[in-house]
Amino acid sequence: MELETAINLRQAVREFKKEPVEEDQLAALVAAGSAAPVSRGHFGDFLLTVITDRTVIDALEESDTGHPFYGAPAVIMISSTRQDQSGCLSAGMIAENIELKAVELGLATCSILGIVKTGIEGSAKARDLLGLPAEFTPLFAVAVGKPAHQQAPRHFVTNRLRSVTIAPQTD
Ligand SMILES: Cc1cc2nc3c(=O)[nH]c(=O)nc-3n(C[C@H](O)[C@H](O)[C@H](O)COP(=O)(O)O)c2cc1C
Repeated sequence: MELETAINLRQAVREFKKEPVEEDQLAALVAAGSAAPVSRGHFGDFLLTVITDRTVIDALEESDTGHPFYGAPAVIMISSTRQDQSGCLSAGMIAENIELKAVELGLATCSILGIVKTGIEGSAKARDLLGLPAEFTPLFAVAVGKPAHQQAPRHFVTNRLRSVTIAPQTD
């Protein structure tokens, strides 16, 4: 798949089929996440937890009245020993790699920060469910599954963000 196609196809999907994501696909997503750049190249500061156990996903959602993981059959939690700007930015890079790889595999994703901040990050029970070593804190998550509906590519790459160019003066 062309990179531009993958970029245009990636979108926040909030409706998933119930069927599980195949193990080799999850492994490919983890590999894509692992290929992302992280600050100072300290890859040991990050941990990906792939959750496919419905009872665990449900329990992680418990603090919320809705379904913040939208019924996705898999959630990839990105945790780090660093909660500073470099840790959070690195988590974003990891998530984007995972999300673009998911597109290539015909999967859909949604980046999830809300419940991670409000119900997971500071919850001893949630950390226990994730089996996290004490030094790691959940920073960001990616909900993954087969999309409930066919995704159409979008064509906004050049105009969704404002941009300015500072080029050398030519006169
Ligand atoms: C840092 C970050 C946090 C996000 N947190 C959530 C979230 O908690 N729940 C959710 O449904 N979407 C979340 N999103 C998805 C955004 O709402 C979505 O990416 C944005 O509206 C743009 O839509 P698009 O992904 O379809 O291009 C998050 C995205 C980012 C980058």
